[in-house]
Amino acid sequence: MNVYDLILKTRNGRGLCESEINFLIENYTQGKIPDYQMSAWCMAVYFQGMKADEISYLTMAMANSGMRYDLSSIKGIKIDKHSTGGVGDTTTLIVAPLVAACGVPVAKMSGRGLGHTGGTLDKLSSIPGFTCELSQAQFIEQVNQIKLAIIGQSAEITPADKKLYALRDVTATVDSLPLIASSIMSKKLAAGADGFVLDVKAGVGGFMQNVEQATELAKIMVAIGKQANKPTVAVITNMDQPLGCMVGNALEVQEAILTLSGEGAADLTELCLELASEMLVLAKHSRNYSEARQLLEKKLSAKAGLVKFGEMIAYQGGNAKVIEDLGLLPKAKRQIAIVSQQTGYINSINALEIGKAAMTLGAGRQKQDQSIDLAVGIELKKKVGDYVETGDILGFIHANQESGQVLEQVLSAFSIQPNFTGNQDLIYNKITSL
Ligand code: URA
Ligand code: CA
Repeated sequence: MNVYDLILKTRNGRGLCESEINFLIENYTQGKIPDYQMSAWCMAVYFQGMKADEISYLTMAMANSGMRYDLSSIKGIKIDKHSTGGVGDTTTLIVAPLVAACGVPVAKMSGRGLGHTGGTLDKLSSIPGFTCELSQAQFIEQVNQIKLAIIGQSAEITPADKKLYALRDVTATVDSLPLIASSIMSKKLAAGADGFVLDVKAGVGGFMQNVEQATELAKIMVAIGKQANKPTVAVITNMDQPLGCMVGNALEVQEAILTLSGEGAADLTELCLELASEMLVLAKHSRNYSEARQLLEKKLSAKAGLVKFGEMIAYQGGNAKVIEDLGLLPKAKRQIAIVSQQTGYINSINALEIGKAAMTLGAGRQKQDQSIDLAVGIELKKKVGDYVETGDILGFIHANQESGQVLEQVLSAFSIQPNFTGNQDLIYNKITSL
């Protein structure tokens, strides 16, 4: 096989067979295909797209390029939950314990945040003592004992994706749906779950800017799951405004604890119940959505998810008292009020601008190895649809440094108009492999 021929074939829209895709991925991972040829191939894919079977071959080739977790020694059906990344998206910290509290095992691998979107691993690291570094054996043992563990994604999975993503990042080939879908799903498949619930964000703060594109991505990912014999459901959700009220690491842990206590923001609570319901159905714990939903609502009011969260914290070396005493979380030195300069209805709160402002405060990182400030972030007291008057408090900036510029940025993220013409939809669409 000859790399030039494979590039040519892809460029001319003829597509590749399984052995050709395996050849490309294996040799690229081993350093036997130079970056210039692989980038030409990515660009050819960008313009020509890929057929469904090609996308599955690519996904499997990348999933098989490194270590694959074997979760078969965990009893029961393991369903993974994945979000394409949002602002203030605290759902994993709520959904995982809630599902585990129903008796369904959750063996979750999470990542760090990058850019304006946060990561579950960073959020958890704001809990004093908590560690996400468990061996595979410890991870499995913990899930068998308490049904729940959240660890950092192993550096040994999907080396092909790591290399290819870095290449796409500098060759303007990131935003290709087949490449995005295979990148995400290869990591999911390598992490070893039996099925997937995907939260595909649509909006200014998400990876996909509009519902059509997000739905298209969701369809491709669900098809990959189905092809791999893993039941998969994708929920397309609103990421025009931040999810819930908190954006920032310790702030989002606080928000997760409040939500698990039944005191969460309406949108965040609803999305968590939605995703958790789909997980219970895929895990065959509930016969249908409404049965799952009822059970979860019962667990939520009994604070069973909160207890489970505390249990996980204790098992992973953290101070579980945090679930009763939020004062144990790191706290920023200053709370600066965000005061409305207008009267009217909040038509939008630009999630991207809020995410960037949080990053400027130090809550996020621009580059992989940058350190972050776990205490800082943005707290919203008002959401899209609310009526406010001049002088009302829209929220607070939690800062450790001078933040005048951030205040400007956050204020300009709010669009306040005499009438409400905005969008309050939370869930746009659902795609299922079942
Ligand atoms: N997230 C991923 O993991 N991969 C992509 O290609 C895009 C977003
Ligand atoms: Ca939030």
